[in-house]
Amino acid sequence: MERPLTKNIHIDRPPLNLKEYEMTGGYKSVRNALKNMSPEEVRSLIQESNLKGRGGAGFNTGMKWSFVPKGPDAPATKYLIANADEMEPGTFKDRLLLEGNPHQLIEGMIVSSYAIQATTAYIFLRWAYKEAALRIRQAIHEAYEAGYLGKNILGTELNLEMHLHTGAGRYICGEETALLNSLEGKRASPRAKPPFPQVSGLFGKPTIVNNVETLCNIPHIVNHGADWFRSLSYSEDGGTKLYGVSGRVKKPGIWELPMGITMRQLVEEYAGGMQKGYNFRGALPGGASTDFLTEQHLDIKMDFKTVSAAGSRLGTGTMIVLDDHTCPVGFVHNLQHFFAQESCGWCTPCREGLPWVERILLSIEKGEGRLEDLDLLSFHTTYLGPGSTFCALAPGAMEPLQSALKYFREDFERHIHDKKCPYNGNHIH
Ligand code: NAI
Repeated sequence: MERPLTKNIHIDRPPLNLKEYEMTGGYKSVRNALKNMSPEEVRSLIQESNLKGRGGAGFNTGMKWSFVPKGPDAPATKYLIANADEMEPGTFKDRLLLEGNPHQLIEGMIVSSYAIQATTAYIFLRWAYKEAALRIRQAIHEAYEAGYLGKNILGTELNLEMHLHTGAGRYICGEETALLNSLEGKRASPRAKPPFPQVSGLFGKPTIVNNVETLCNIPHIVNHGADWFRSLSYSEDGGTKLYGVSGRVKKPGIWELPMGITMRQLVEEYAGGMQKGYNFRGALPGGASTDFLTEQHLDIKMDFKTVSAAGSRLGTGTMIVLDDHTCPVGFVHNLQHFFAQESCGWCTPCREGLPWVERILLSIEKGEGRLEDLDLLSFHTTYLGPGSTFCALAPGAMEPLQSALKYFREDFERHIHDKKCPYNGNHIH
């Protein structure tokens, strides 16, 4: 099984320095792309590979790049941004790539910048990833020294400046337009789309925002081709995927596996199954802002289309498992507490609605709920659903709630009838 993204990551040693990285074939794709391919050839290769954005939304990467204006009338200044603001609960996949092999990300960013003709690139890093910041800074320095960054890269006409920017620790900064505002030094409120950043992004210029894992795939596709990339996958989405499992499993972790592996394989084979005395009840397949899947879904492929068809989303591909000793109401309340706290407050439904949902859930969890509260919660899943807010934060927050009401309704009702939590308040923090 090929693991292009993680084969050079060894958690027991620091990341490869530039020389070691080059000895494993590192920066070869920069030579391949800059010397043998036009920017448009790189872009169409990526589109052909069917690489879909790994930040959670799964938008076709090559297609996204195609929206960047080209030709003599296009703005000369364009930006590439690596979204490394990984704050989705349960998600820690990009951290592995950032700490484990920063040169791979830089290489992917150079080739991507060439494809979209960007001359400035930023890495927008989650504030808490301190070790990653040190390692990225060192790797950027090495790349400048070796002539992979700066003016006339490898003797070509490509100029690229790269900067590391550390966020201030808010979840909303991972939303691409809030990220742009934050990078411009403004309050991190999301912007209305359209215009999409590809056309009017950072400082009003065409900007591509791609997730770290997405960008790390670029060198491998350029070196080995679109057919090779698609052949790595068990599904129509190309490539491998960094999957994760957390919760009461024997071996929580992250693994690079063929896209389309089943949920059962992830939980039973890779995560070693449930801990003794605990049974699987369900899982959020891709971080907290996705819908629960349950036992009936264990054999579905974990790819974008199949997980959506099952009523959820692949999201970040890092699942949080719910076991039979954990209170689903408390679990969902905990998530709503997070989302309410992280709302930027810009639009009213999200600012007012999320704390309301949180309070209702808390009262049910404490045994003070009423049956009518379940209707109120259902109402909110629509009121705060897609299309009603500026960005995906509140609709994302409603996903675990609406699916919990669907699959674990009897748990909500028991809290109300028994006037206490049947799990003695035991839930995941
Ligand atoms: P989205 O579907 O609105 O957009 C995804 C990308 O495609 C964006 O870059 C957008 O500009 C582009 N796009 C979409 N429609 C387009 C169109 N018609 N024309 C041109 N470009 C278009 O999703 P969004 O709001 O960017 O991201 C939501 C996802 O983020 C969720 O799936 C969630 O799972 C994930 N997420 C991940 C986090 C993390 O830590 N990795 C944190 C929070 C959410």
